[in-house]
Amino acid sequence: MKFERFQNFNLHWYMQKNRRSFIRNIGASLTSVAVGSSFIEKNHEQFSLLKSDIKVASNDKINIGLIGAGIIGHFDADTALKVPGVKLVAACDLYTGRLDAAKEKWGKEIFVTRDYREILQRKDIDAVLICTPDHWHQKIAIDAMRAGKHVYCEKPMVQKIEHGYGIINAQKETGKVFQVGSQRASSVAILEAKRQLNSGVIGDLTFIQAFCDRSDGRGAWQYSIPRDASPETIDFNRFLGDAPKVPFDPIRFFRWRNYSDYGTGAAGDLIVHLLTGIHVITDSLGPNSIYSLGDIKYWKDGRDAYDLVNALMNYTKSDKHNAFQVSTRVNLSDGEGKGGFGIKLIGTEGVIDIGWNEFKVKTLKRKAAPGYGGYDSYESFSEKQKKEFQKWYESEYGKDQGGYDLADGIDFKPAQDYDDRLDHLIVFFNGIRTNSKIVEDASFGLRAAAPSIACNLSAKLGKPINWDPVNMQLLGS
Ligand SMILES: NC(=O)c1ccc[n+]([C@@H]2O[C@H](COP(=O)([O-])OP(=O)(O)OC[C@H]3O[C@@H](n4cnc5c(N)ncnc54)[C@H](O)[C@@H]3O)[C@@H](O)[C@H]2O)c1
Repeated sequence: MKFERFQNFNLHWYMQKNRRSFIRNIGASLTSVAVGSSFIEKNHEQFSLLKSDIKVASNDKINIGLIGAGIIGHFDADTALKVPGVKLVAACDLYTGRLDAAKEKWGKEIFVTRDYREILQRKDIDAVLICTPDHWHQKIAIDAMRAGKHVYCEKPMVQKIEHGYGIINAQKETGKVFQVGSQRASSVAILEAKRQLNSGVIGDLTFIQAFCDRSDGRGAWQYSIPRDASPETIDFNRFLGDAPKVPFDPIRFFRWRNYSDYGTGAAGDLIVHLLTGIHVITDSLGPNSIYSLGDIKYWKDGRDAYDLVNALMNYTKSDKHNAFQVSTRVNLSDGEGKGGFGIKLIGTEGVIDIGWNEFKVKTLKRKAAPGYGGYDSYESFSEKQKKEFQKWYESEYGKDQGGYDLADGIDFKPAQDYDDRLDHLIVFFNGIRTNSKIVEDASFGLRAAAPSIACNLSAKLGKPINWDPVNMQLLGS
């Protein structure tokens, strides 16, 4: 593969009236594909946001291998294949049905195996997508980089905080491109919300509310189990890896998230997406303390992972941001039925209310006059005191009754077909082709995963967990 022939096709970000282009033409016979452009029209302002121009020489290919061809493996591989020049040549999985499905979907000629090391040995593979359960991420990621492969590793980067250092070191030692797969890091909404925050439109950020609620069985990870699941069709021993040995159990295999031996629970699985967005928006390295409650409220199906987690995190002042607090939750037993996912950035003068790929800004301007009356000590004054007070107030503030004004700001929506996963994969392949910066690298990945995993620790121990986000170390509490 000749990377030097590739065009820089980084996602780029511009306002129409002040377009900044990052395109550098360095190759001939290039084809150009634009994806992910989106716009909004509000308050007479029209933006064009995050447009990914991809230019790839027709004879250049990045060959990828998929390790873990389950639910997200399909999404990630299908999305990677939308990036010009990317070809899937191999897939690895521990369930025969998924290897058959891989051939059905991606072609009979792809190489399939139950042993990921056979993927890593192949000279024709440049990069791997690691889409296995969490407890396998560290080992496969390190083995892959040492075998010379670039790695796109699904979130959370690691199942255990201490696993993070090995990945960080392997990335440094090998110089391979490593990106964690929490696509929020490349989402237009996140990147534009960051720009809004930095513009000062909501004043000083003081508080973030971030949540992920789900009400149904699949939302609570009761995923379908194929009828032919058996010790013959599943390599259960390999699935267990370093986890405690247990007899064959298709529920553990297909619904591994519900067990702390393999997953990271609601916090590690979903708060990590929220923190990824928060860390990109605020340029924060992470919280200093985490206090969390966790419980199994509804899904008493044998799982040991909480279905309700509420956490408070304290982000102290850094050279990038003022101090702010985060209140976050995942409720998989939500009886409100609304579900959803959101990050609300609350400032002293407004709020940026972010959904998955859209957000709204509201601003609040307080009046200088304090106002009086209503729920106020004024009502308890005698008639004489009231008259005296009114006279004084009007001499100070005139008729201004104080309070505040609320106003709607930007109402951001991406293009209908916008896909943050595609932009995230474009960033990854761009990193391989041009050595451009990977925001969600191994250190970023650990800084998002560790406080999320620490929610489980805090809930279990019943005490706050102290974390050094700069040096990425748990501190004694
Ligand atoms: N970025 C996102 O939005 C997102 C969404 C869902 C899942 N994920 C992450 O992706 C990962 C996979 O989740 P999923 O829902 O696809 O799980 P899944 O159970 O559907 O798929 C995992 C697959 O990995 C295979 N596997 C297990 N151990 C393996 C091994 N040692 N070698 C090769 N294959 C192995 C299994 O056979 C299974 O088919 C998890 O880490 C999860 O947190 C990310």
